[in-house]
Amino acid sequence: MSMEDALNKWLGKTYESSRFHSRVLPPALFTLIGGKGIIADRIAEVIGDVPGNLIDPFLGTGSVPLVIWQNNKIGGRIIAQEASSAIVNAYNVARDNGDTLMGEIRSIYSKYAPIDRDIARDKLAPMYNAGIDDPVKSAAMFIVLSRCAFNSHLQMNKEGKITGGFQSITPRRIFTGELSQSLHDRWLRAVRIIQESKLMVQKATHDSWVDMVRGAGPCDVIYLDPPYEGRGQFKYPGEAEVGVWTEEDTRELIDEALMASRRGVKIVMSNSPQMEKALSDRGFSTSVFTTYGGPNAPPNEVIGVLDKEFRATCVVGKKQEE
Ligand SMILES: C[S@@+](CC[C@H](N)C(=O)[O-])C[C@H]1O[C@@H](n2cnc3c(N)ncnc32)[C@H](O)[C@@H]1O
Repeated sequence: MSMEDALNKWLGKTYESSRFHSRVLPPALFTLIGGKGIIADRIAEVIGDVPGNLIDPFLGTGSVPLVIWQNNKIGGRIIAQEASSAIVNAYNVARDNGDTLMGEIRSIYSKYAPIDRDIARDKLAPMYNAGIDDPVKSAAMFIVLSRCAFNSHLQMNKEGKITGGFQSITPRRIFTGELSQSLHDRWLRAVRIIQESKLMVQKATHDSWVDMVRGAGPCDVIYLDPPYEGRGQFKYPGEAEVGVWTEEDTRELIDEALMASRRGVKIVMSNSPQMEKALSDRGFSTSVFTTYGGPNAPPNEVIGVLDKEFRATCVVGKKQEE
């Protein structure tokens, strides 16, 4: 099928724009390329009630589980892992030292704001890369630097050092380099939810998602948002540490998801529209849509849901008696 035909097929299907679906940005400590911030509430609706645990092996910004927790929809815990050490540290610091973390963030802004591209690149990133011994200070600096990334794409290498990706202030009205009240409140909301949910984020290895998926029981929900497939090119900070995600990895992930589904686990997977056929061929119900750029922009997101056994064994809000 030609690219154009494929596009028309998508457009003819469940195409809709979800731009501005969310008026208030969801709680999250940072943005990330491939992050689901802008559509987190939409994915939360698709996931629905989680009678057991919500399992998210590719946590990233965590905006989806944080929104679901905020909506009071999780009966059990959030179980998560992430490949990027910087992200894992930020979550664990937020949970254990949230107020100190917010204080550190405020003090970085009061010292350096407006934090434009030059200050981020030439002053703060070198400080971060030199190694900050205190995990709280390191997390605060990582969160501030992520905020300065162009297209949410802070580039990092295998050693967890920042190698580039900063945006310039001039053409963008939204990014002022200041700590606005709304940005501060968004981070604080994320910290409070992470504390309240006692969110534990494990450091992932390339294949550790397998054990997480296998560990899911009936009435748990697994949200899968793996990296887009790449050949030798790192798209996410975490990939530099655990290796690039491949087509083979996606195939294995879908196989494991199918096995979990047979045990009564609900699976929700988001990915690029190229995945639609692979998902619907394996029994997922799918919808394809665009997340930015208005009604004429090409679709860039697919959501696949596998929940037959789940609905058979779980009632809303709790597990059925065995
Ligand atoms: C598409 S993003 C997830 C975005 C997330 N759902 C959000 O809303 O921000 C994929 C994430 O998986 C991480 N990652 C990459 N390879 C991984 C692996 N093998 N195991 C676990 N996480 C991995 C990346 O660092 C990235 O944060």
